[in-house]
Amino acid sequence: MKKRVAVLPGDGIGPEIIEQSIKVLKAIENRFGHQFELVYGDIGACAIDKYSDPYPELTHKICLESDAILFGAIGDPKYDNDPKARIRPEQGLLKMRKELGLYANIRPVQIYKSLSHRSPLKEEKIEGVDLVVVRELTGGIYFGEKGRKNGGREAFDNCTYSDYEVERIARLAFELAAKRKKRVTLVDKANVLETSRLWREVVTEVHKEYSDISLDYLFVDNAAMQLVTNPAKFDVILTENMFGDILSDEASVLSGSIGLLSSASFGEKSPLFEPIHGSYPQAAGKNIANPIATILSLAMMFEYFNATDEAKIIREACAWIIEKGYLTEDLSDKKISCSTSETGDYIVNYISLL
Ligand code: IPM
Ligand code: MN
Repeated sequence: MKKRVAVLPGDGIGPEIIEQSIKVLKAIENRFGHQFELVYGDIGACAIDKYSDPYPELTHKICLESDAILFGAIGDPKYDNDPKARIRPEQGLLKMRKELGLYANIRPVQIYKSLSHRSPLKEEKIEGVDLVVVRELTGGIYFGEKGRKNGGREAFDNCTYSDYEVERIARLAFELAAKRKKRVTLVDKANVLETSRLWREVVTEVHKEYSDISLDYLFVDNAAMQLVTNPAKFDVILTENMFGDILSDEASVLSGSIGLLSSASFGEKSPLFEPIHGSYPQAAGKNIANPIATILSLAMMFEYFNATDEAKIIREACAWIIEKGYLTEDLSDKKISCSTSETGDYIVNYISLL
């Protein structure tokens, strides 16, 4: 296989975790005789510093010309603490998603048995948890008209959805459910929001084409509760942008650490693979962050390339180090935990030697 991959490390711990996934990508390249051309690009705070643009044209060009994009993280506290900042690193990620038309964000949540004591829930609650959040990524309140009125003392963020935006992601969710437990739960707030009522209408229509998949509906407040009281009941959670953002962070900790959750975004142009966690600035440069979410995102990239053996061995390697307890400090029970780079080395060794 010959592929061109755009590599966007971003901010905070982004460069360190991406470095590990590139080590893993090279191990796969050697073991399976593939050829990957890596093209690096800037995004986020580091791109603002260089180009005054969090998603510069050059980075967009690199993404467009690649078969897939590997992305680390974005964000810098110097912007978080300045509500008046005009340009923000996060705008880079949103612009990239929008310009590449990446409307579907897939966030799988899996439980590792040896880590179940690390979950904030009782072990019996998380038994059998295997769910995916399918989050709409280019619409809703994130991208609606926003602004200030009344001399800046009133603010608004509009939430808008069109039927085709709901239809295409609904279809993707049903297709995904067909390969899994055949259950889709639409999460919305249809008792209050007009956009949610449109979602219900369109998803119910699309469902007619998928008679072997069950569909149920949950209000988002109820869904937030059931994610902690009965998480094993879920298979595919289909939801809009903002609800998906919040629920996927909630769902991520079921496994014990947000540092384990990978994601893939698909749409019109090159797909994007990224961990769901953020830039964790307090850990940046310390070699302590968990690289597993980023490495599992690489596995999702190989699945997208239909390279199932490659994806499988990456997943096995991650499961193996988790089982053995070679873990970074967010998950380790030991006095001395593994560093980011040691974790990467263990995974590389598993792939290269076994
Ligand atoms: C995510 C992140 C982003 C989002 C931020 C960084 C803009 O939280 O990918 O979940 O809200 O979509
Ligand atoms: Mn988020």
